[in-house]
Amino acid sequence: MLNTTFANAKFANPFMNASGVHCMTIEDLEELKASQAGAYITKSSTLEKREGNPLPRYVDLELGSINSMGLPNLGFDYYLDYVLKNQKENAQEGPIFFSIAGMSVAENIAMLKKIQESYFSGITELNLSCPNVPGKPQLAYDFEATEKLLKEVFTFFTKPLGVKLPPYFDLVHFDIMAEILNQFPLTYVNSVNSIGNGLFIDPEAESVVIKPKDGFGGIGGAYIKPTALANVRAFYTRLKPEIQIIGTGGIETGQDAFEHLLCGATMLQIGTALHKEGPAIFDRIIKELEEIMNQKGYQSIADFHGKLKSL
Ligand code: FUM
Repeated sequence: MLNTTFANAKFANPFMNASGVHCMTIEDLEELKASQAGAYITKSSTLEKREGNPLPRYVDLELGSINSMGLPNLGFDYYLDYVLKNQKENAQEGPIFFSIAGMSVAENIAMLKKIQESYFSGITELNLSCPNVPGKPQLAYDFEATEKLLKEVFTFFTKPLGVKLPPYFDLVHFDIMAEILNQFPLTYVNSVNSIGNGLFIDPEAESVVIKPKDGFGGIGGAYIKPTALANVRAFYTRLKPEIQIIGTGGIETGQDAFEHLLCGATMLQIGTALHKEGPAIFDRIIKELEEIMNQKGYQSIADFHGKLKSL
């Protein structure tokens, strides 16, 4: 019932982890592989291993989460080695996703060249939107720099590639970014990364709740669902149909998943709720989405995918 075609590959269902949650180590990734998730993705890697920001740097909140992890990861080679070993013996039906987030344009190009030269046959996600590295702005908020980077990438990169974007908040920005993305043979756009640089406060302690950046961090979970849905919808209605959408942001229940699919998302990534609940969330959310579809008389996702009505 939830069979999904994405990047010309078949997946048993559209659910996967959002990069950053439950995917730092081989042990985490193996748990995702053994779960009911339709696909899974590695933690965004940099060329060299990184410790990330000081602790505490991730806090679950009643309506979501705040984090300023700072791209801790075990380094590009660790994850490349894992995805190369697992692209064949993958319990999931579809290919594996490999996320990268270079600290500079040159580092992104260097990693993409290594992926291109390797026998990796999965899907690469280029993260242009991490809000948590002090002094490094989110590249996808710089339209010219994004266009320049993608021009360079597609001079040599021929494998399936998606970009992870930050949320946009202005219709003109959706127009500008969609026009840029439509120039390239991208496989997908992933909307959205956390809403960058929010501030959550503990009023009793009269204090911030995470240490890095004086408490400023990316906001995820229920707080951001309306923004995530708007970004999915805005790109679904502006991008050429060959560029599919991954919906990320505030997916905690079958109903949240249904709404993302209705807006035009094809795959669905779960971050905050996976962090709270662990990989068992995939069993629950699959059942909840199937129940909604049964109640509505839908046999497949195609019956309602992208078909959000206007008034
Ligand atoms: O700080 C982090 O590691 C998060 C990365 C991201 O949101 O892309």
